[in-house]
Order: sequence, then C-alpha cells, then structure tokens
Amino acid sequence: MENLLNVEHLTTVFRTYEGEVTAVNDVSFYVKKGEILGLVGESGCGKSVTSLSVMGLLPRKNSRIRSGSIVFDGQELTTLPRKAYDELRGNALAMIFQEPMTSLNPVFTIENQLREVIRNHDRSVSRQECRNRIQEVLNKVGIPGAENVMKQYPHQLSGGMRQRVMISMALINHSKLLIADEPTTALDVTIQAQILQLLKKLAKEEEMSIILITHDLSVVAEVCDRVQVMYCGRFVETASREAFFESPMHPYSKGLLKCIPYIGMSDQELYHIPGNVMHPADDEGGCSFAPRCPDADERCRASVAPMTEAAQGHYVRCFRCGASPMTSTEKEESDVSAGNE
Ligand SMILES: Nc1ncnc2c1ncn2[C@@H]1O[C@H](COP(=O)(O)OP(=O)(O)OP(=O)(O)O)[C@@H](O)[C@H]1O
Ligand SMILES: [Mg+2]
Repeated sequence: MENLLNVEHLTTVFRTYEGEVTAVNDVSFYVKKGEILGLVGESGCGKSVTSLSVMGLLPRKNSRIRSGSIVFDGQELTTLPRKAYDELRGNALAMIFQEPMTSLNPVFTIENQLREVIRNHDRSVSRQECRNRIQEVLNKVGIPGAENVMKQYPHQLSGGMRQRVMISMALINHSKLLIADEPTTALDVTIQAQILQLLKKLAKEEEMSIILITHDLSVVAEVCDRVQVMYCGRFVETASREAFFESPMHPYSKGLLKCIPYIGMSDQELYHIPGNVMHPADDEGGCSFAPRCPDADERCRASVAPMTEAAQGHYVRCFRCGASPMTSTEKEESDVSAGNE
C-alpha cells in the first residue's frame, strides 16, 4: 500500500518568554491509504502540534516549522502557499477536535453548514441536490432521522451527534486524510465506542486514512492499525497494534500499558509512572525519559538513542531495550492490566 502522508524530520518550535521551545523534535512518520494510525503520549508531548503542523494550522505569531518535510498525496506542504493550503484543508485534508462545538457555527442549521461545505467545492450544486447529498452523508455516519437533524442547530444535538456531523463534513469533501484529535474524550463510553466504530468503517469503506490522537490506549486497542508513541516531542516507539500490545519495548510504553486500570483492581494497584515530564529547559541532551526510567544509565543521560528497528516494522528509540522486549513477568502484569488474561 502506498503512503498518503510522509513526514520526515519535522521540527516545530514555539517562541516563548523563556526562549524557543521545541514542541516537535525531528519527527518522521508515514500514513498509508486507508490506515488508522494512533498517536499516543502524555499531555504536552506534542501530539496536537504534530497534527497542526500537518494541517498548516500552527499559530503564526509564535510558532513555525523549523525544518523537515511533509509530503501529502505527492505534494510538499511546508512550502505550499497559504491559499493552496486553505483549499486543501477544505478538501483532501480534514481535522476534527475533542469539542465539535468549536468547529460548528452555532447560528446556522446543520443543513446550512453542510450545504456551505458542498458549495465551497462547487457553487453550481442546486439546493435540492445539496439536500439529497446531505441526507445521504448523514445516514452514512449513522445519524437517525437525518431529515429532522438537518433543520436543527448544533446546540440541539448531543455531543456524539455533533461529532458525527463533523465527520460527515470530511465525507462530503471526500477527504483523504482525517486527523482526529481526541475525538471521543468528551463522550461517554458507549457513544465513544460508536464513533470509533464509525471511524473504522470509514477507513475501510471509503479508504480514508486517519490519524487518531488519544491518550487512551484502549482506544488504540480498539481501532488502530499502527501505533506511534510520543514522549517530550519525539517518537519513542512505532509498531503495529498487535506488536505494541504483545511486546512493547520502550520503558515509557511499558509504563503506559501498566497504567491501564482493569475491573477488580484495588486503588493500591493503580499504577502511575513516577516523576514528571521533563521541562524543555532541563533538556541536557540525553533521553527525555531518562529521569523517570528505571533502566537509564550514563549513556541514556548523555545522548538520545536513534530510532532502530528492533523487530520487523517495530521501531524503538532506546539504548537499553532495542533487543530486549518485555520480560515475562512484565508481560504478565500488562496482560492483566489490558484484560487479556
Ligand atoms: N500556543 C502555544 N504556545 C507556546 N507553546 C505551545 C503552544 N501550544 C503548544 N505549545 C508547546 O508544545 C508542547 C506540545 O503541545 P501539544 O498541544 O502538542 O501537546 P499534546 O500532546 O497535544 O497534549 P494534550 O494531550 O494535552 O492535548 C507543549 O508542551 C507546549 O510546550
Ligand atoms: Mg493535544
């Protein structure tokens, strides 16, 4: 399968009062056609900045892509003129956020908003034709009673319905890549499961590629084909979903997996990774996870390991764990946490 998106050595920086902060540090990844790629990592590790860099939506006043390349559908995006980027975003590239209300206009009905999306493409589409297409797409994203919903305003819909409307916009546009940034975090678990199933269906049936940003590994387990784990602006592990859950390698990934609660566990058993995410100002050139890592040695504190292929298609950035997947006791513990007993 060909790659729809190829990101190479992307570095994105912010100007702050404390100096320049590198939010995304030399990140390389790809997304294949029809694939769901999960991007996971703790708050502040750079997941949203990575996706905003791809979408061309970084705040202009204090951030920029310092280096690297983003090739989407054969086109280099980092040098794309603003107008062409705007057009791309309305079409082949789409993004949805945690709170769909921020992207929907409260004063227009759903029909009006979706019609606008269609007409942005093609002014000549008649009102009736728009209506038919909107109905069709709302049915496709599983909105019952599409005819009524079209007449409603965003605030009249539930969070799950609003998110479906957002997804329908990407469908109307025949978007090739959908970046979903925590799309289900604000929803209750049953609605979350429905939205995730919808994304999975779209990836398969419409061959839409999806980057799913989440800090919830159960979401990854449910829908993603591949996983990238991010820590302090860098990717530390990349693997297929199966390989990631079967044999995670990076100590941070293992820690994340141990953090998954399971039914019947006591409060004492609830695990958290000790320590805090390192402040960029404390970066002395070593592995950012070293201060929290039980296995870190001098080399880890002095330099950053390269991303190496430890098993086929399974990459990890760690001096200590390239050749040593989880020990059997660690594996048992994480199986219990993931409910795979
Ligand atoms: N507008 C901004 N101004 C300055 N720095 C920013 C800004 N937005 C992000 N950053 C920096 O980029 C880093 C990465 O932020 P990002 O929003 O990508 O994190 P995230 O992984 O999406 O976190 P979360 O899970 O909380 O959404 C932050 O730690 C912060 O230092
Ligand atoms: Mg974010």
